[in-house]
Amino acid sequence: MTTYYKGFPQSTREEKLHMVNLDELENEAKYVIPEAAYYYIASGAENEWTWRNNTQAFNHFQIVPRALTGMQDPKLNTEFLGMELKTPVMICPIACHGIANAEAEVDTAKGAKAAGALFGMSTYANKSVQDVQSAVGDSPRFMQLYLSKNWDFNKMVIEESVKAGFTGFFLTVDALVSGYREANLRTNFTYPVPLAFFNEWTGGKGEGQSVAQMYASSAQNIGPDDIRKIKEIADVPVIVKGVECAEDAMLAIGAGADGIVVSNHGGREVDGAPATIDVLPEIAKAVKSCDHPVPIILDGGVRRGSHVFKALALGADLVGIGRPFLYGLALGGAQGVQSVIDQLNKELLIDMQLTGCKTIEDIKHAKIDHLDYTADWGISSTSKSVMKPYPVTKENQLTGEAADAVSGASRH
Ligand SMILES: Cc1cc2nc3c(=O)[nH]c(=O)nc-3n(C[C@H](O)[C@H](O)[C@H](O)COP(=O)(O)O)c2cc1C
Repeated sequence: MTTYYKGFPQSTREEKLHMVNLDELENEAKYVIPEAAYYYIASGAENEWTWRNNTQAFNHFQIVPRALTGMQDPKLNTEFLGMELKTPVMICPIACHGIANAEAEVDTAKGAKAAGALFGMSTYANKSVQDVQSAVGDSPRFMQLYLSKNWDFNKMVIEESVKAGFTGFFLTVDALVSGYREANLRTNFTYPVPLAFFNEWTGGKGEGQSVAQMYASSAQNIGPDDIRKIKEIADVPVIVKGVECAEDAMLAIGAGADGIVVSNHGGREVDGAPATIDVLPEIAKAVKSCDHPVPIILDGGVRRGSHVFKALALGADLVGIGRPFLYGLALGGAQGVQSVIDQLNKELLIDMQLTGCKTIEDIKHAKIDHLDYTADWGISSTSKSVMKPYPVTKENQLTGEAADAVSGASRH
């Protein structure tokens, strides 16, 4: 269940996860991922206001159920920039999956492939692009770029990724320096496992470096020209990740961006930045009505099928998840990643049935309210932390197909 890289324990778990919701995984992962690494994943910047609000702000919007629709058997498949996907949920690029599981990005890619989801891989990945290609062949995947000050390095990352079957890029523009993340300071977090591109380029750099050190070698002066420069090296789609206002979306599209990720880096950069779901409608309105409309992805705080539904209804074409899949990776390897996506799919299908949405396209026209509720009752009396311990017996536990049938979720 555990292997060691220079004394750093890495999970080797490979199993399907049976969860009631995604939040439960965060607590369970605490016992599998070493402390400093766990807090590197779980934490946000400063007071973590933005991190918390990313999830809570979904309550600013309400899904209006629809009756008498005569619809059944909704479907999750969708098309994105020419890729046929089985779900609108995608895996966000996240650094250093080796802190969650020894198989790192290889297992994440396998889990995403099994779920038919788009996989975003970080420049700071532990496994190489070739490792991923050998494991998953031509599965749908994009590489994320943290631009370095050194364009020889950038060129190498871009060219090797394309050669290894990555069909596009996420250019991250919201993390030019590291946000002020106090948990990393308290635990003295450094990347414990080598980062493949840095290993290749600098013979070992990356391993043992702090987040701030890594960002120091990256470019701080990223501008619209960088989008053009990337496209000159490789003629593939470039999606700009980390946009929080319509003006920046227009700047990116004007420079040739093929898509936008509305993201605040999971609340890890500017604490006080708005929740992504709150700014999505304004950005979507501008993007969809401009001369060159492009697809939109939203990420940040997505933990429920209803969050995915709301994001799609408010203008997103895909919806990204970050921390939850990493917890799934730690607890169950590739199958754990797939289980996390399956859980969101299951919840989303229920919402689709109850709103008469047969397809993902239908969700984009679903009725959403924006009522100003002030009361938020916080934790419900049936949350795991409040419920009295529940005796788990064979008789009262339903798993797999049986559990799905009882929950009402159609299988897909
Ligand atoms: C541990 C961790 C590492 C991350 N590393 C990267 C990265 O290498 N590149 C990037 O563009 N975004 C990175 N992100 C941001 C994610 O891509 C995504 O925007 C965010 O996690 C979404 O929020 P969520 O975790 O609440 O789902 C990282 C996020 C976390 C939690």
